[in-house]
Amino acid sequence: MNLTLHVWRQKDAKAEGTLTTYVAPDISPDMSFLEMLDVVNEGLIEQGQEPIAFDHDCREGICGMCGMMINGVAHGPERATTACQLHMRHFRDGDDITIEPWRAQAFPVIKDLVVDRSAFDRIVAAGGFISVSTGGAPDANAIPVPKAAADQAMDAAACIGCGACVAACPNASAMLFVAAKVSHLGLLPQGQPERYSRVVSMIEVMDQEGFGGCTNIGECSAVCPKEISMDFIARMNRDLLVAAVKGKRIDE
Ligand code: SF4
Ligand code: FES
Repeated sequence: MNLTLHVWRQKDAKAEGTLTTYVAPDISPDMSFLEMLDVVNEGLIEQGQEPIAFDHDCREGICGMCGMMINGVAHGPERATTACQLHMRHFRDGDDITIEPWRAQAFPVIKDLVVDRSAFDRIVAAGGFISVSTGGAPDANAIPVPKAAADQAMDAAACIGCGACVAACPNASAMLFVAAKVSHLGLLPQGQPERYSRVVSMIEVMDQEGFGGCTNIGECSAVCPKEISMDFIARMNRDLLVAAVKGKRIDE
């Protein structure tokens, strides 16, 4: 396949970025999207040019490091698929592909396609630790967990923190991510003692970091590579309401 790429190039956080056009010749349809970028980068390095910076790690769809807007869609055209698991067979010979970084005030561009997602880490840190002493692994495993709660908690825990939900949302809201993180602990018995103070703390930091509010657009869930359901947002909002009734504060 021969492709034309329009890639966002930005030297650093302060520099002005621009879309730069590259040709990507002889691309195998069996390559992943990131392997295709590797090939382009090898060509750029051979020509003495700066390679395109992009985030990646596992390349197996499990770490959440990769992420870019591909033709305006977070992680590209395939549903429930990270950019690293997207294969070039989903494009056609001669295609033009526009590649941009996540766009959100809370995710400033570091370089090219790499953005700073440390705001997510600060939200998770605000969730704190659970205070329950579960003993050793056998004791923890002996705590009965209702099947429905275990299944839902596992669904929520599938979130890999990639940030596609924020990038896709017109409000740059992090509600889907935060709801997944709040819910996977809030559904389990071990997560109950801090269930309500946790939701207040995490949402407070989410707001401080500059993420927008949820207006039920649904694009977050549509682009989520782990298909996290918007039901978790409703669940988080219910917990937040209960927290308000209980008068929970961050340090409780
Ligand atoms: S909710 Fe989905 S899109 Fe958002 S960070 Fe988690 S895995 Fe990524
Ligand atoms: S590189 Fe780990 S999810 Fe894509």
